[in-house]
Amino acid sequence: MTQAEEIEIKEKGFLDIQIDPTLDLFKEIKKIKKQKNAIILAHYYQEPDIQDIADYIGDSLGLAREAEKTNAAIIVFTGVHFMAETAKILNPTKKVLIPDLKAGCSLSDSCPPQLFKKFKEKYPEHKVVSYINCSADIKALSDVICTSSNAQKIVESFPKEQPLIFAPDKNLGAYINKKTGRSMVLWNGACMVHEIFCLEKIVKLKSRYPNAKLIAHPECEEAVLQVADMVGSTTELLKFSQADSCNAFIVATESGILHQMIKSSPQKTFIPAPPNNNCACNDCPHMKRNTLEKVYTCLLKETPELIMDEAVREAAKKPIVKMLEISKLVGL
Ligand code: 13P
Ligand code: SF4
Repeated sequence: MTQAEEIEIKEKGFLDIQIDPTLDLFKEIKKIKKQKNAIILAHYYQEPDIQDIADYIGDSLGLAREAEKTNAAIIVFTGVHFMAETAKILNPTKKVLIPDLKAGCSLSDSCPPQLFKKFKEKYPEHKVVSYINCSADIKALSDVICTSSNAQKIVESFPKEQPLIFAPDKNLGAYINKKTGRSMVLWNGACMVHEIFCLEKIVKLKSRYPNAKLIAHPECEEAVLQVADMVGSTTELLKFSQADSCNAFIVATESGILHQMIKSSPQKTFIPAPPNNNCACNDCPHMKRNTLEKVYTCLLKETPELIMDEAVREAAKKPIVKMLEISKLVGL
């Protein structure tokens, strides 16, 4: 790579090369993927084109498992930074590429390691359960990791008398506190996408569509979760929309999930839950930094690559492996 290209990646987070507009990117990506023995992993919040080209689409737990077991030489991780980092932590001999290095996460950013370290020192008796949406440095300070699909079981794997800190999502933490009857100390973090839903507008929408069920991600605020008919991770929401006899759903999570919901149940109606602002889309600006063009250039040039400090990687691996072991034990 030239020095100019390296500077460009540092500044923009991705390599901006001219792409022939007549190129069939789907065909090209498939071809290069095969040549290089690469795999594309995509989170449900990715744009539809990326989901359609992916080898695997899933929630955070599914993606971590897939990254751990893949034999591919290259993992192109189309999600956000902490997800690609998890893939590298679990499968360090693979080259992990991320189409846009700047695809971060407001929730992960809401928990800076230095501040969290001080916070943790105030509770020497507590064990730390961290939601996977955090940096490797936070994972390294944790006893176990969880995702939205296994959070309750992970928390319940500790004896009731064991005091716990839950970081960084206060909404998921409060939801799990309620479900388990615990009083975990919560770090005050949140996701910008799930905090924006407007309860008043949701209630109005529910009365306009009395037969529709409200399905919500546990990163939403308590008031929204209280009126939800079902609460779950992205995979759980998708499965519920497929299996439930209801024909209409109000979906309180990032809009990317609607692509798979509509694809698998085209006869059903999916209504994005309305946010507080006037914008009708519930897009995560971080997730949506990835584009099909960036997937193509990243695969072609094998950059940007996710590089990690080995000591941090090793320390962050332990609580993730613990999560995967507990999940298996409890049949998740
Ligand atoms: P899950 O896909 O695990 O439900 O997580 C949602 C999310 O916010 C990812 O950033
Ligand atoms: Fe982070 Fe929220 Fe975006 Fe998920 S949806 S990546 S939690 S900002």
